[in-house]
Amino acid sequence: MKNICVVGTGYVGLTTGVCFADLGHSVTCIEIDLHKLELLRSGKSPIFEPGLEELQERNMRAGRLRFTDDYAVGIPDAEFIFITVGTPMGEDGSADLTYVKAAARSIGQYLRSGSIIIDKSTVPVGTGDMVENIIAEYAGPDVKFDVVSNPEFLREGSALSDFFKPDRIVLGAKNREAAQRVAALHETLGAPIIITDLRTAEMIKYASNAFLATRISFINEIAQICERLGADVREVARGMGADKRIGPHFLEAGVGYGGSCFPKDVLALYHMAASAGCHPQLLQAVMDINSDARKRFVKKVETVLGDLEGRVIGVLGLSFKPNTDDMREAPSVDIINSLLKKGARVKAYDPVAMARAEELLPTVTFTATAYDVAKDADALLLVTEWNEFKQLDWQRIKRYMRQPVVIDGRNLYDPREMRNLGFIYWGVGRGE
Ligand code: UGA
Repeated sequence: MKNICVVGTGYVGLTTGVCFADLGHSVTCIEIDLHKLELLRSGKSPIFEPGLEELQERNMRAGRLRFTDDYAVGIPDAEFIFITVGTPMGEDGSADLTYVKAAARSIGQYLRSGSIIIDKSTVPVGTGDMVENIIAEYAGPDVKFDVVSNPEFLREGSALSDFFKPDRIVLGAKNREAAQRVAALHETLGAPIIITDLRTAEMIKYASNAFLATRISFINEIAQICERLGADVREVARGMGADKRIGPHFLEAGVGYGGSCFPKDVLALYHMAASAGCHPQLLQAVMDINSDARKRFVKKVETVLGDLEGRVIGVLGLSFKPNTDDMREAPSVDIINSLLKKGARVKAYDPVAMARAEELLPTVTFTATAYDVAKDADALLLVTEWNEFKQLDWQRIKRYMRQPVVIDGRNLYDPREMRNLGFIYWGVGRGE
């Protein structure tokens, strides 16, 4: 059993804290947002992540997990201190390190010799060195410590299984012995462990996210070509993915990537590269194709309906992907704003994200069910592929709609079946 402290309880921090507690360690999570802290202390999770709240409650009851806003409580006894605070997009698109710096200062004030500070937040290359300098300044010369970079590869919606069954653990450090102590903490997970230097570990995170984003933009470009040439991008992806060198994942064409990671990290890598004197042409194209995917989707609606002024449009799915209520950089927001700007009235439904969406989209009418969205609609748009949208009663939906138009931004439905049911149906890259 080790004493662990986790600084910041966003989805990475809370998952890390809860899961290490579940592995039998004693975990203290520091959260300075008092509203969030109160929620956490009552056993509630501030984020929607399948299975997380149950595990949080169980480990709190078992006395292995606690929450505080006091660094003096969490830091002095911790052997391993994880920094998992946010690194939002700064005004110029580079990563904003305000929270990382503040965490490093507070950790430094209470640190005792022998601790390892593990940077899990996605931070620009070189931040590990900066964190080390800040902590050293605040801890004073007598306190000996190490900084290890341990980038996080959790996905929202499957964070628990990603934590317990990772593809790999990446650890970067100046002191290999410190990295090995962190490796031992992860040993029970049975994953391959890659030990490297601090800057390389930081780069692995950005390069991984940028590569996944590149695959998505690549397949979206292929989708566009498929549409023109009469091929089906889903079959193309299946055919490509069967090649072991390519692999089947992250080749789903659609309305583009969103969320709190890919848009922010691709842009931050772009800025890092540009400020180091590089000319990142591919990253620029990845970002351009991604924003075009949303515009092309709206264009399709216009191609089918003509002028959107006064049209009623129903939107199914708002979160940036299924199984999360996260609306950050969700394609739905750009798509809906563009429809509204063109004079359409928008009704929308999402199984969990509507409370968050209401703040971002105040003029949208939110409905209680997917079927209500269809009522009097001129077109139904599928934007997020939640499971509950897979088995809808299409005859019922057709009866409700003003015209039977379905524009599917995630290729959730079979074009032939939808057309047989009497719908005017458009997917993405499927030879319309
Ligand atoms: C992503 C990475 O997958 C994680 O490995 C990483 O840890 C995380 O960012 C992070 O940096 O914290 P996440 O943002 O939760 O995870 O979501 P993904 O499942 O990767 O999806 C991102 C976006 O890409 C979603 O909008 C999704 O709809 C879209 N996507 C994904 C596609 O459009 N096509 C695909 O084939 C796959």
